Amino acid sequence: MADTDNKVALVTGAARGIGLATAQRFLDAGWLVGLLDNDAGALADAVRGLDAPMHALELPFDVSKPDDAEAAVAAIRKKFGRLDALVNNAGIAHFGPVLETPLEVWREILDVNLTGPFLMTKAAAPVMRERGGAIVNITSISSLRASTLRVAYGTSKAGLAHLTKQLAVELASYGIRVNAVAPGPVDTAMALKVHTKEIRADYHDAIPLNRYGLPEELADAIFWLCGPHSTYITGQVLAVDGGFDAAGIGLATLRRDFGNG
Ligand SMILES: NC(=O)c1ccc[n+]([C@@H]2O[C@H](COP(=O)([O-])OP(=O)(O)OC[C@H]3O[C@@H](n4cnc5c(N)ncnc54)[C@H](O)[C@@H]3O)[C@@H](O)[C@H]2O)c1
Repeated sequence: MADTDNKVALVTGAARGIGLATAQRFLDAGWLVGLLDNDAGALADAVRGLDAPMHALELPFDVSKPDDAEAAVAAIRKKFGRLDALVNNAGIAHFGPVLETPLEVWREILDVNLTGPFLMTKAAAPVMRERGGAIVNITSISSLRASTLRVAYGTSKAGLAHLTKQLAVELASYGIRVNAVAPGPVDTAMALKVHTKEIRADYHDAIPLNRYGLPEELADAIFWLCGPHSTYITGQVLAVDGGFDAAGIGLATLRRDFGNG
C-alpha cells in the first residue's frame, strides 16, 4: 500500500505506556502508524488491541541497533510510502547511586536513550525530507533537573535534549522540525519499576498539580508538536509535568499553611 492521502508516523517504544498512547492518538486523527518495540510479544498484543489495527504496522526492532533502525524505516516506506513524524519515545530507566552504577548499565542506558534517537533520526530523515515533517524526542524532567540515583538516566536525557536542539538547527533546511517533550512522572510500567511508595509520595509533594500524568496527556502534547498548529516551533523542550519544573522549595508548606492545593 502506498497511501499518499494519510500522513504517517513512526513511534518507538510503542508496545505500552506513553508510546502506545501516542500511537493511538495518531490513529485517532486518521494517521497511519508504525509501532516499533523490541518486545515483539508485547508489541503484537498492543497492535491487536488498537482501535484501528489495519492502519498500523508492527515493527519489532531495537532502536539501539543501526541495522534495525534502517530496517524499520525501510518497512514503513515500503508499506506506507512516506514518513511525516518520528517519535523517539523508547527508553529505559535505571536508578542507582553513581558509585554503584556499572559501566555496562551506563552504556546500555546511553545506547537506548541517546544513541537510539540518533540512529532513528539518521534512518528517518532522508525519507522525511521528501515532504518535511516533525520529530519529537521524549526526554524527561530528569533532563532539566538533577536528582539522586539518576546518573545514567538523567545524563542520557539531558544529552537527548541537546541532540534535539542540534537536530533542529541542522534539519530545518530539510523542512523537518525537531522538539522534545519532557514528561514528569507518568503512571506506566517504567514508573512502577523505579518509583517506590516513598518516591511517589515525594513526587506528589513536589508537583503543583499534585498528581502523576496520564500517558494520554503526554500523547496530546506529542501529537500537537507533530501537527499543523506548531509549524513555527522547533528546537524546544516542552515540559509536560504538572508544574514540577516550575516549582522551587516550599510547595508542601504552602499547601499545609494556606490550603493551596
Ligand atoms: N513514566 C514516566 O514517569 C516517565 C517520566 C519521564 C520520561 N519518561 C520517558 O518516556 C518514555 C516512555 O516511557 P514509559 O513510561 O511509557 O516506559 P515503558 O517502560 O512503559 O515503555 C517503554 C517501551 O520502550 C520499549 N523499549 C525499551 N528499549 C527499547 C529498545 N532498545 N528498542 C525499542 N523499544 C524499546 C519497551 O519494550 C517498552 O515497550 C521513555 O523514554 C521514558 O524515559 C517516562
